[in-house]
Amino acid sequence: MPIKHFLDLSDAGADGIAAMINDAIDRKAARADWPKGKPDADAPLDGRVLAMVFEKNSTRTRVSFDIAMRQLGGSVLTLDSSSSQLGRGETIADTARVLSRMVDVIMLRTDDHAKIEEMAKHATVPVINGLTDRSHPCQIVADLLTVIEHGHPLPGLEVAWFGDGNNVLHSILEAAALMKFNVRIATPAGYEPEAEFVEMARVGGSQVTLTQDAAEAARGADVLITDTWVSMGQEHVHNKLAAMAPYQVNNELLSQAKPGAKFLHCLPAHVGEEVSEKVFEGSQSVVFDEAENRIHAQKSVLLWSFGLLDAPS
Ligand code: CP
Ligand code: NVA
Repeated sequence: MPIKHFLDLSDAGADGIAAMINDAIDRKAARADWPKGKPDADAPLDGRVLAMVFEKNSTRTRVSFDIAMRQLGGSVLTLDSSSSQLGRGETIADTARVLSRMVDVIMLRTDDHAKIEEMAKHATVPVINGLTDRSHPCQIVADLLTVIEHGHPLPGLEVAWFGDGNNVLHSILEAAALMKFNVRIATPAGYEPEAEFVEMARVGGSQVTLTQDAAEAARGADVLITDTWVSMGQEHVHNKLAAMAPYQVNNELLSQAKPGAKFLHCLPAHVGEEVSEKVFEGSQSVVFDEAENRIHAQKSVLLWSFGLLDAPS
C-alpha cells in the first residue's frame, strides 16, 4: 500500500477529511471526562511512535500531537533544529531515512514547503505537515470539526477571512474546494492569498470573493476567521501592520455577520491587533474549543495516515 503522507488536505480528499471529522466526533464523545492521557478503549496505535520535528515554535501542535498519540496508545519524541543534527546541516533526506528506521510516523513543522516534500520523498513512513509557510492542514481539520460541532454543516457555509492571506488561509481555501463551502476574503492590497489556492477553491465549486472591504466580507457570514498579521519567520514591518489595521475583527465587523456567527482563530492571538478583546473573549468566540479540537483532529489525521480510517458510507 502506498504511504499516506498528509502534506495538504488534498492528500486525504473529501472522503478522507469527512472520515477524519466523523472519527474525531466519535472518539471525542467516547472519552468525555476521561483523564486526558488515558488511552482510548481500542488504543489503535499501541506501540507506535511519532517523531515531531520542529524548525519553528509551537504550543498547540506540539501538545495536541503528543496527547493525541497517548490517547491512541502510542508515544512521541520531539526534535528541534537547534539540538538535532538538522541544525548542523544534516540533510532532510538523510534525516527522513534515519527517522523512518526508528519511528512509525513523522510530523514536521518547517518554513519552506519544499522541505516537507523532500521529507516525504525520502521517508518510508507517513509524513504529516505540522505547518509550513505555505499551508497548515492539521489546523483546518480542527477548524472544520469546530464549525460542525457548533451547528454549521459545511456545504454552503459562508466563511469570512480577514487580514493576511497566509498559510492558514491557503488551507481553508483547499478545504473549501473539497468540502464545498464559500470563502469571502478581505485583505489589504498586496496581501492576498496565492492565486493557485483561490483557483483551486473555485475549480472545486467554491465561491471565493476577494475584497479590500472588511464589512463586505463579513456581511452574511456564518464564520469569521483571522490570524496573526505577522507569521513566524516574517519580519515585523510597520507598513504591514498599518495596512492590516482596518481588518481587525471587532464588534462592529461581527455585527455585519449572521446572528450567532462564530469567531475562530488558530492562535496564538494578538488581542488588540487582528481581533478586539471584546470579540476574542465574547460569546461568539469558539477559539478554545478550536484549540482543544486540535487533539481530536490530530488523532484522526494520524489514524488516516496509518490507513485506519474508513471512508464514510
Ligand atoms: N495553531 C497552532 O498551530 O498553534 P501552535 O503554533 O502553538 O502550534
Ligand atoms: N500564520 C501563523 C500560524 C501560526 C499557527 C504562522 O505561520 O505563524
